[in-house]
Amino acid sequence: LVGLRRAAARVLLGNWTGSSTVPSRTLYPHQWSWDSAFVALGLRHLSPRRAQRELESLLGAQWDDGRLPHIVFDAATPEGAYFPGPDFWRAGPFPGVRTSGIVQPPVHAFAVWEVFRADPAEAERRGFLARAYPRLAAWHRYLRTRRDLGGHGLAAIVHPWESGMDNSPCWDGPLARVDPVPPSRFRRRDLDHAAPGDRPTDLDYGRYVRLAAHYRDHGYDDASAPHAFAVEDPAFNALLALSELALARIAAAVGADPAPHRRRADEVVAALLDRLWDASSGLFLCRDLRGGGLIREHGVTGLVPLAVPGLPVAADLLRTACGARFGLGRVHMVPSYDLTGPAFDPARYWRGPSWFNIGRLVHLGLLEHGAAERAAALRRSMLRAAARSRFAEYVDPLTGEGHGATGFAWTAATVLDLIA
Ligand code: DGY
Repeated sequence: LVGLRRAAARVLLGNWTGSSTVPSRTLYPHQWSWDSAFVALGLRHLSPRRAQRELESLLGAQWDDGRLPHIVFDAATPEGAYFPGPDFWRAGPFPGVRTSGIVQPPVHAFAVWEVFRADPAEAERRGFLARAYPRLAAWHRYLRTRRDLGGHGLAAIVHPWESGMDNSPCWDGPLARVDPVPPSRFRRRDLDHAAPGDRPTDLDYGRYVRLAAHYRDHGYDDASAPHAFAVEDPAFNALLALSELALARIAAAVGADPAPHRRRADEVVAALLDRLWDASSGLFLCRDLRGGGLIREHGVTGLVPLAVPGLPVAADLLRTACGARFGLGRVHMVPSYDLTGPAFDPARYWRGPSWFNIGRLVHLGLLEHGAAERAAALRRSMLRAAARSRFAEYVDPLTGEGHGATGFAWTAATVLDLIA
């Protein structure tokens, strides 16, 4: 493990830009929102101070309405290095800071609290929690108010990229209604660095571009944008609940009232159970707010609520995790999509491959709900897969073979977090 730890540290040092960490030097040469949170969870074991700065640089790009953008563009990186770059999004909170206009899952307050705990004295000296608290509270407020498009207490995502699980089969139905921009109208940069069979298709990209351009052309205003895609996603909301619980702890530590945050966490969990729980499959499903109804695809997003303490349906979720669909203990890590599903593809991004951040959240859930042996086995499987794949972005759940980028930041960070 000493060698693996050293190799993981090398990846994170190599991806550090001076104020944050790029997920990959080739495929993703800027700062990504939920990547940064997972990276900070690992960085705290190398340098708590650097982990604080990672999160602070993201919080520093917060918009006036409270949203945390999904990408903060590195000013030194040329426009052509990534598509869609800053010239496409035409957004940012203030001059000099260019960002995208969509968001990613709210795992940040959870990460801030864990980073704080790694070195409370240093955090105190730097005023880390006191500065982070109002920003995190405003972020959650944005999600609770402007993003409650269904009106039932859950935040909606308005673009598949906001789920972080870009091309999950869960989005195929809602995306089918979106008129794709023809591939001749944009130039994908991801295919310069990754195999086409590992990535979303051109048709997916055409729809991603259409949705993002629409939102942009409405000034990223949630009230007036038409939102052809609007979905309630279980992982997104479970992470919001987990982060509200962390925010309660942060509030107490800075002398604010923790009670509203605890109450909100309870409300999100109640809405998750009410709106997205599917007893017949023992899994949380996504709800399409445009087409109406639950989306009957079984994505790993539906297992992520296991990470929420006290979840009433944890035993059912555990059974589902170990069953035929997700094969926990029998395949490598946790597949991103139903192994028995018609759209399962072991190599293509979020249509089957196993991801390390998700593995970490499921690991947390297993520990939380008394499945220590299963958690230990998953941990071993993740460490093995990371070592064998040179910190791949994701792995084939059936063979353990790496796909996507190597030297991927949250893979290395997760290894550090699991070893610590
Ligand atoms: C990408 O570029 O593939 C990202 O997932 C979008 O944020």
